[in-house]
Amino acid sequence: MPRRLAAPTGTDSSLRVLRVLWVPAAGSIARVKTSAGLDTDAGEVSDTGARLVVAVDGPSGAGKSSASRGVAAALGLRYLDTGAMYRALTWWLLQRGVDTSDPGAVAGLAAEPVIEVSTDPKAPWTRVDGADVSEAIRSREVTGAVSAVAAVPLVRARLIAMQRDIIARNPGIVAEGRDIGTVVAPDAPVKVFLTADGAARASRRATEASWPAASTRAEQDRRDRLDAAQSEKAADAVVIDSTGLELDQVVATIVRLAREHAGISFPRQKSR
Ligand code: DC
Repeated sequence: MPRRLAAPTGTDSSLRVLRVLWVPAAGSIARVKTSAGLDTDAGEVSDTGARLVVAVDGPSGAGKSSASRGVAAALGLRYLDTGAMYRALTWWLLQRGVDTSDPGAVAGLAAEPVIEVSTDPKAPWTRVDGADVSEAIRSREVTGAVSAVAAVPLVRARLIAMQRDIIARNPGIVAEGRDIGTVVAPDAPVKVFLTADGAARASRRATEASWPAASTRAEQDRRDRLDAAQSEKAADAVVIDSTGLELDQVVATIVRLAREHAGISFPRQKSR
């Protein structure tokens, strides 16, 4: 039976969880020990082999990456940035002069590059064919082209298969993206849809990337439209509006959801 989550009260009464939705009962997962060395593949699972997948979806600029890394670090879980994988493929295509608005050309090359991502929330990186592209994939050029690449079905099929494989090998993980709670890991026991109003999202992006605010907003609106098909909120996701919230408030809210829902014993253990 589903149960209703109490709205997280937090230490700060300004926490604004706009909607608290029905979520599955906690019975499907049990205790998850915190992750050991972050260079190895997986966190530890409970005696029952239970898994904890925290799915964090939502639009760009809502603060998914920082919040997801913070939650993973706080709970000793791994971290998966699925957007980085779409960006990595886009970077590789652009390097080769491929027309990223041509779905046929993109689909034909989607399986070519070797894409790797770190699952260490404290040291995220992205590699393509062995080269570190962590910074390059954040360029304006990649950002402008990635939505079209991510809309190509063969691209999604390949990257979703890789993402599921990473999640399967890491029993405790926070995965962020657009379709984690709906497609990549629909059985994730903890699902969050992190959003913020358009102006706040654009302003964060502009500050992070040192881009002009007005053009960032226009670009964001364009990407929102292109990404819409991949960005459905899962029916059982808890919506968190991060407008006006500090990062640590968002992290605390998600950590609380995970604890409450998963019955995890905290505080986190030391890494070994
Ligand atoms: O979150 P981001 O800006 O790094 O995402 C880059 C692009 O990839 C964006 O256009 C949405 C897309 N994406 C997706 O379609 N599915 C995901 N799971 C993650 C990102």
